[in-house]
Order: sequence, then C-alpha cells, then structure tokens
Amino acid sequence: MNSYDIIYIFPKTTLPLQCNNSGVIMSLNIKEIRKDFPILSRKIRGKRLVYFDNAATSQKPIQVINAIKRFYEEFNANIHRGLHTLSQESSELYETAHDIVAEFINASGREEVVFVRNTSEALNLVAMTLGFHTLSKGDEIIISIMEHHSNILPWSNLAKRVGAKLKIIDITPNYMLNMEMLEEALSEKTKIVAITHMSNVLGTINDIKRISKIAHEYDAFVVVDGAQSVPHMPIDVKDLGIDFLAFSGHKMLGPTGIGVLYAKKEILEDIPPFLLGGDMIREVHCDLEGNCWAKWNDLPWKFEAGTPNIVGGVGLAEAIKYLKRIGMNNVRNHEMDLTGYALQRLNEEIGDQIIIYGPKEIEVRGGIIAFNLVNMDPHVVALYLDEYGIAVRSGFHCAQPLHERLNLKNGSVRASFYIYNTHDEIDYFVNALKEILRKQNS
Ligand code: ALA
Repeated sequence: MNSYDIIYIFPKTTLPLQCNNSGVIMSLNIKEIRKDFPILSRKIRGKRLVYFDNAATSQKPIQVINAIKRFYEEFNANIHRGLHTLSQESSELYETAHDIVAEFINASGREEVVFVRNTSEALNLVAMTLGFHTLSKGDEIIISIMEHHSNILPWSNLAKRVGAKLKIIDITPNYMLNMEMLEEALSEKTKIVAITHMSNVLGTINDIKRISKIAHEYDAFVVVDGAQSVPHMPIDVKDLGIDFLAFSGHKMLGPTGIGVLYAKKEILEDIPPFLLGGDMIREVHCDLEGNCWAKWNDLPWKFEAGTPNIVGGVGLAEAIKYLKRIGMNNVRNHEMDLTGYALQRLNEEIGDQIIIYGPKEIEVRGGIIAFNLVNMDPHVVALYLDEYGIAVRSGFHCAQPLHERLNLKNGSVRASFYIYNTHDEIDYFVNALKEILRKQNS
C-alpha cells in the first residue's frame, strides 16, 4: 500500500449537504452531521446535551476518533528517525498532514506550516523569535483590547524585555475594532501588528485584509490570531496578505495538543528557531572545549523540536478533510443563520432582561454570543443552564482586559455554535433562560 494513501482510507461520511435538483447546495444536513458526533447523544443530568461551548473546544466526529485509533493500531512509530516501514509510514502521514493544512489555508506549501501545541504556543513562538530578532528599544507593537490573553501577554512581555512600546487599540460602541485609532497608531516605529481575526467574546470579525494592507505600508509584520476564525470560515492567507496566522486543532474538530503556526517561508527562513533539540537540526558538532555549532533543518522542521504530536497531526488532517467535505462557506452560512436566529429569539423573548455584547450586523460577527442576564452572576447562569444539559462558558473567557473595558467585573456568559447546532437547540436555550429568569424573579 502506498503510505500516502493511508490518510485517505479512513471512513468517509455521506456528504452532509442538502442540494436542490440542480445539485446546488441549499443548506447543511445537520441531522446527518449530528450522527457523526457520538457525544451529542449523551445525556447530561437526564437531559439531552446542548453543546454551546464550541469557542472553548469543539466536539469530534467519529472520523477523527477512528483516525486516531487507527494510527495507534496500525502505524505508530516515531517520525524522521527510522528506516523501517512503520517509521516511513508514520513520517509520511505526519508530513501529509502539513500539506493538508497548507492547502486548507492556501499557504504555499508545508514549509509554511509549523505544528505546535496550540494558538498560545504559536503566538509565543512568534514573539520569542521574530520579536527578539527584530525589535529594539523605542519600537512599537500594536494589539487590540479585544485580544485573548495569548495575544496580549507574549507582546507585553516582549515589549518590556526589549524596551518597546505596546499600543492597545480600542473598540467602537458597536464592538468593532476602532480602525481610525489603528490608523493613527501606525507609524514608522510600528514593527508588529497582532490582531485577532474573530473575537472569542464579541464574535467581531476584523477586516484583516485592510489591517494587513495599512500595516504593511509601514513595513510592520502582521500576526493574526485565527483560533476562532479558521474553524468557522474560509481562510486564504495569501488573500489576507498576512505574515503569520496562529490557530488550534481542537476548536476545529481535531484533537487537543495540536495547533498551527502559518508564516511566510522567507520569514521562517530568516528568524531563529524557537526550541532547540532533536529533529530541528541537520547536523551538530562539538569539541571538548565546549564549543558546539549546529545547522538547522529544513522548514518546517526547524521549528518542530523533539518528537512532535504525530497523532495530533493525523487527527487534525482528518478534521480538515471533514470540514472540506462540508465546505467552509457552508459552515459560515450555517453559523450566520444560527446566530441571527438566536439574536432575534433572545431579543423577542427576553430583550429587556438580557444584555448582549457584540456587533449588531451578522455579516461581521461569528457564531459567538456573549451576554449577561440583568442582575445575575454569569457563573450562576451557566450553572443553571447546566441543569438543562446546556454547556456554555462563563467568566472572562481569557479576555479579562476586554471585560474590564466593558466594565463587566464578573465577566459574561458565552454561547458559541458550530456545524452540529440547530434552531431547535436555540429554542430550548431561550426557553431555559426564560425559566431561569422566572425563577430568579419569583
Ligand atoms: N480560548 C478558548 C476560549 O475562548 C479556550 O474559550
């Protein structure tokens, strides 16, 4: 068997799409999709599970679960370290996973796709390599107030260490990035602009193409946190014109512990490696005086020191194949539909007792709804919802500066959707909130 084919022999779903007579895709066949996710038939406290915590992590389809199981049953060996058949097959599966990711985001090839643990590690990698390699005292880094902690702390640490200035862009009253403020903040001193593509709290989708264009007029590097966007919409790194993109496998149907850093090849060639050790070198020499030197391996292996998360890469590749069969435009349309429906129902049913944070226009927001019920602690609301079998996240969602900016001392409740969520689940959620409010006010 050609080992390249291994990755394509895992079971396929029936195409989970509904077409009209001319074969044009009308909507996702959610009923079929749900059958692929074993966990969705679980009961929580005797109730059906309604999983609305997808921004924290997504559920996994049986295809991904089987790919992981099958890898351990049939192909497990270390990569790039053995001439034996298993090692060759395992290496090829892992390398092919990079190709699958590259194609998914329209990168030029596997050289531009570095596997890391998660988005946080990818952003730290950029700050520790590009940052220390490029920045010096007086330079400036621009981020926004809507960033996740992992797109704040690596930059504030870098700024402190090299004597650079961190500039933080505010949001508008409609929870959009304040583009005027960004344009004013940019200057010849700007070296890095690090912005989220989609806020994990507000759902705001930032105009990365425009940000990239204006930042590049000052020769700044553009680093994008794609943790919330890559799983939910089509991504083309060339069209966006960005230099770096970080995202996590576990939010896009893949396993935990595998994430991606995309970067332009010429930049990865230029910057130093992040972690040093096995597999990231081509050769190492030492004399007995304690002098050592090494030549780095080819891309992307230069940035993947040590035995990597091989099975994680295989699982992520399978997740991407699943998403591609559905089509990322269909994923995005389904989530726009669900979010629009949820916002409408929440406003109609409990509009005077709920505060929703995020842009009004559905075209510029993802499937994330952060809210508070009037006079109720977000954690209490989340615990009540759990009694209905509804999983949401409560608190600061790793974005405490944003909550402080919004004056939300206890944070917010967040419902976030994915391909397997339904209108029916939203109705159930809205009714649960109504009952919680009734109990609270009685
Ligand atoms: N970053 C993830 C979230 O927003 C964990 O919940």
